[in-house]
Amino acid sequence: MTIKEISNKYLVPNYARQDVVLVKGKGSLLYDEDGNEYIDFGAGIAVNGLGISPDEWAEEVINQIKTLPHASNLYYSEPQALLAEKLCNMTGYKRAFFCNSGAEANECAIKCARKYSYDKYGKDRSTIITFVNSFHGRTIATLTATAQDGMHDYFFPFLEGFKYLPAGDFDKFCEGVDDSVCAVMTEFVQGEGGVIAQDKEFIKKVYDYCKKHDILFVADEVQTGNGRTGKLYAYEHYEAKPDILTTAKGLGNGLPIGAVLVGDLCEYTLSAGTHGSTFGGNLVACSGAIKVLEKIDGELLKGVCERSEYIKKELSCAGIEVSGLGLMLGITCKDKSYVIKECQKRGLIVLSAKNKIRLLPALNIDMKLLEKGMKILKEVLLSEE
Ligand SMILES: Cc1ncc(COP(=O)(O)O)c(C=O)c1O
Repeated sequence: MTIKEISNKYLVPNYARQDVVLVKGKGSLLYDEDGNEYIDFGAGIAVNGLGISPDEWAEEVINQIKTLPHASNLYYSEPQALLAEKLCNMTGYKRAFFCNSGAEANECAIKCARKYSYDKYGKDRSTIITFVNSFHGRTIATLTATAQDGMHDYFFPFLEGFKYLPAGDFDKFCEGVDDSVCAVMTEFVQGEGGVIAQDKEFIKKVYDYCKKHDILFVADEVQTGNGRTGKLYAYEHYEAKPDILTTAKGLGNGLPIGAVLVGDLCEYTLSAGTHGSTFGGNLVACSGAIKVLEKIDGELLKGVCERSEYIKKELSCAGIEVSGLGLMLGITCKDKSYVIKECQKRGLIVLSAKNKIRLLPALNIDMKLLEKGMKILKEVLLSEE
């Protein structure tokens, strides 16, 4: 049997996979089992931010695998300590909690927000506001937090204590908040929802409202984090430093890791025994993540902005509409399935979000490859019926 046949027979059929078996990659190039080469504009859905298996990262990770791949969280370990220190020093946050994915990071943020409020105000202040069209994960809590049509079927009962409000409408926000609200949770750019950047003025007003009423402002930077939008974290584009920030994807650059950063208010909220994870803070993933953060400097972020401007200019000159921030871009098209398949045929991997094409290339993608990929993409987009 072929890999496709084995997969189709033995894997739970919960993914609509593209018709390609990927076997290796380096930087922004991917190869399939037949030796076909693809320019990668997807980076494993914003995971391979520094490209596939960058040398220094790989060396560090291999070294950690040989030294001590896992130690239980009952003990101290260097990679976790140094990663937490680095994240806090780079952002000004007070402390970090490590887990294995974006959804897990958001689960932790939800628990942290509710406990903060419980500790201070008691039991009935536990509602979390999220915005229509958001995406926060696939666990029951994060799926409940996800305010998208079609996401709240089948898996009943969902959780109590979430309320969905329209993004961008501050009057509706004020109408929707009541004494039961403990936190607002938002993406700065709705990724899965169609690559839509939040309005800066709206976010500022919501943030100020939250500060005034001791409502925690929680940012889901699972996709926007780690340089993706041209800043280390996307809150830097907004006048709103989150009380709790979650991230994952690009922090791992190929290994599973999630992180929750907490500021002054929640520094001591999650006390011993209130949260944990066996694999969370895995030493291999943490040692790799330190290398990732070392690379996210001014020069890399400048490169993200330059690449972003280049892509936007290429598309708008061709009369194609584009949304998003940095290297998290959405493109309006007529038939996303056609565009994805046709690009793939011509050696380019692109993603989708809702009915748009989504581009999430590596932050350091080689300019020549970017130009080659954009030529293919424009040809395909302009060939749509
Ligand atoms: C904004 C956001 N939050 C949460 C998640 C869930 O992350 P994970 O798939 O790592 O659980 C995603 C994944 O796409 C995401 O984009």
